[in-house]
Amino acid sequence: MNTILAQNRKSCGQLTEISEVFVVEQADVVIIGAGAAGLFCAAQAGQLGLNVLLVDNGKKPGRKILMSGGGRCNFTNMYADHTDYLSHNPHFCKSALARYTQWDFIELVSRHGIAYHEKTLGQLFCDDSAEDIVNLLVKECEQGKVDLRMRSEVLSVERNEQGFLVKLSTGNIQAKSLVIASGGLSMPGLGATPFGYKIAEQFGINLLPTRAGLVPVTLHKPLLEVLQTLSGVAVPVSVTAENGVSFKESLLFTHRGLSGPAILQISSYWQPGESITINLLPDLDLDAFLNTERAEHPNQSLKNTLARHLPKRLVESLQTLNKVPDVTLKQLSVSQQQQLTDALQQWQIQPNGTEGYRTAEVTLGGVDTKALSSKTMESAQVPGLYFIGEVVDVTGWLGGYNFQWAWSSAWACAQAL
Ligand code: FDA
Repeated sequence: MNTILAQNRKSCGQLTEISEVFVVEQADVVIIGAGAAGLFCAAQAGQLGLNVLLVDNGKKPGRKILMSGGGRCNFTNMYADHTDYLSHNPHFCKSALARYTQWDFIELVSRHGIAYHEKTLGQLFCDDSAEDIVNLLVKECEQGKVDLRMRSEVLSVERNEQGFLVKLSTGNIQAKSLVIASGGLSMPGLGATPFGYKIAEQFGINLLPTRAGLVPVTLHKPLLEVLQTLSGVAVPVSVTAENGVSFKESLLFTHRGLSGPAILQISSYWQPGESITINLLPDLDLDAFLNTERAEHPNQSLKNTLARHLPKRLVESLQTLNKVPDVTLKQLSVSQQQQLTDALQQWQIQPNGTEGYRTAEVTLGGVDTKALSSKTMESAQVPGLYFIGEVVDVTGWLGGYNFQWAWSSAWACAQAL
């Protein structure tokens, strides 16, 4: 990397005093954040011949990748398209996702000889370890001769005639372009900071309110006390938010409330004060089942009948909550059967909140896409400044969609640098 000497001058009447002389390294581009988006963007830009400095304040690159997918990284989804993302502008992500698709990333994974499998619903996971994906990204960076600088704090960023002067705890860099890939607020324990939002603010770029997404929900006391006895029990359900969005996946009872893929998915669509509606038997015509059972076993208890389709402990808890009457099938009246069907198939629950950024997989909101080019991720008002990955107001569903956004937005940006 080239170095030059720079001066900070203070003007005082006719006299100009040189207050500071410092060494400045030069790069074509500085990328801040060596997570999924930053690593991939750096590799692509480096391989296109640019002189790239990739900076991160953590010890290791790709910390979230290492933790992802239960240690196996759900690195993309075979069915990813723009309809699987939340954004104030649902069209924004279309271009990048179409130009660098899941099939492009799958081809890269195959080229690196990484074995993978589909777990469910198009979700692709490494057979061995998420480390394979971090190694892939680091190797791609090496091929692009990227200067990867970990444990480096960004002290300040200034715009000047040549681009951006980035002052780091490890030195000063003058770059033509600056890419912000510092992610969102989810999991501060894995290095999340509001850095990207602060840079947006510094340059007058609009921010949309942020909130935790793909996160377990918590419950109010009386309901929680009954349901926390089920901690660890999982059931296949469908869950619907007030805006009608619905997911059919599994629900997990926890000691704080509800989790599991169905709940994580719906949490991104849930707003405080709203209810969610749970169908505990999404594949069953409950009326028809009860009528057949009543004809064949009239003296069978309702509880045991339901336990053929639901965990027994759940049925007992539903009885405690007065949702399942303590009767035999022949005692179950028409109105009771109707109430039971509503209770089990349209169970309305009002969460009292979420577990927040501490356990959230993603952050909704962030840098307003209206301020960015959907083709390049460049700020319209600050040429040379780019935002990629989770810091942008584009959030995917659970299932590999968020990494795909990181790859696609990073690739689109790298082509434009
Ligand atoms: P990311 O958060 O990956 O990287 C940001 C980087 O910036 C970090 O390395 C951080 O240290 C650095 N940084 C922050 N502030 C800085 C500062 N001030 N100075 C310097 N560096 C700074 N998605 C998916 O598709 N499949 C999955 O299996 C999972 N699983 C998963 C598990 C868990 C536990 C979490 C928390 C999240 C997931 N996700 C996921 C979501 C996915 O991890 C997330 O969407 C991407 O990592 C976002 O990539 P970015 O590069 O934008 O941010």
